[in-house]
Amino acid sequence: MAEAPFAVLGLYPTAQALTDAVPKLKLAGFDGLEAYTPYPIHRLDEVLGLKKTPLGFLVLGMGLVGTASALGLEWFADAVDYPFIVGGKALFSWQAFVPVMFEVTVLFATFTAGLAMLFVLNKLPFFGHPVLASKSIAAITCDRFALSIERGEGGEKPIDVAAARRALEATGAESVEVVGDPAAADTTGAYAPFTPRDAVKAALMIAVACAVAGAGMYAAVKVVLTVPPITHIQNQPKLNAQRASTFFADGSGMRLPVAGTVARGHLPYPFKSPEEAEAALANPLPRTAAVLEKGRREYADHCGVCHGSIGNGEPSLSSAYGGKPANLVSATFRGYSDARLYHVITVGKNAMPSYAADLAEDERWAVVHYLRALQRSQNARDEDVR
Ligand code: HEC
Repeated sequence: MAEAPFAVLGLYPTAQALTDAVPKLKLAGFDGLEAYTPYPIHRLDEVLGLKKTPLGFLVLGMGLVGTASALGLEWFADAVDYPFIVGGKALFSWQAFVPVMFEVTVLFATFTAGLAMLFVLNKLPFFGHPVLASKSIAAITCDRFALSIERGEGGEKPIDVAAARRALEATGAESVEVVGDPAAADTTGAYAPFTPRDAVKAALMIAVACAVAGAGMYAAVKVVLTVPPITHIQNQPKLNAQRASTFFADGSGMRLPVAGTVARGHLPYPFKSPEEAEAALANPLPRTAAVLEKGRREYADHCGVCHGSIGNGEPSLSSAYGGKPANLVSATFRGYSDARLYHVITVGKNAMPSYAADLAEDERWAVVHYLRALQRSQNARDEDVR
């Protein structure tokens, strides 16, 4: 044993015995006390007079750093680097930043709690501690509670081993061990901060973990899906729309609709020319305020961009739109029948697309009524205003 031992360590049978021993040892003048227990014991830190952990302040501080970074990042992105107005709000609209600020605060705080605990307070990657090399450590990690006197009086003088041993035994320690000074006794590297051997071991363990996780993932994704009963769902008899099939005479899995089938809610539009439409169709809707209002709404939604909100053929599109929309209030179109206007809306014409998919039949007829109103408003006769 080296000249100055690291500690004199007493093992107590119960947590209560350990807690009771602390004040007695303190009274006897031993103040450099540490406890090693198999599980955390409530209020032991208070009895030992340990300093409060600074972890809370670290977490608070880093949480606030997180809040500030998120705010700063969002301010920079939204108000400085890419000023882009969203929903008419101010560029620096902090209320909208709150969710991200909250998330980043939590992120910084939790990472600080975990990493500061491991690397700052628990001193990773320093794995060694003299008590780990003691004979008592097996009992401490199982069912015994250790108190160790780690400093002499005033924290400076070497420990008086005999006195420490007597004091521990007097307060109920079952056995007492003198733990050697690591600096003097270390030949195994057990107290070295992080030996190359530890590094190799850690790398090996990480490699094994990766291999196991990778193999597990591979099995879950590639293997499990290829064995019964999972495969039953793939192997059931079925026709693939785009694949060949021997089931039907024409060798294809996909069927055409039965001749004459009409999709629900859809009537085929049979007229190829405006003349055919004119011969068969008449506006079925009455010219009421409600119909005109519906026509106005649909016209504004679907036609106004190209034909102008009053129908005069002046688009509100930029010149990049190459088409030349018709002036719908001109004499030509005032002379068009309702059916002919309906036909154009239904099938389109050159640069004007069909609106059959966007407007139901009664909506198209309502637009026709509204077109009439536009035409008359731009070509009013004296009688109209009387
Ligand atoms: C994308 C732009 C655009 C939209 C939207 C549009 N049109 Fe047109 N429309 C045109 C163009 C371009 C023409 C001229 C086509 C031609 O004569 O080559 C035209 C022509 C017409 C004509 C005259 C057809 C003829 O026989 O000469 C009518 C009527 C008409 N549109 C009605 C409408 C109605 C009603 C709507 C809304 C349901 C509408 N358009 C929506 C671009 C548009």
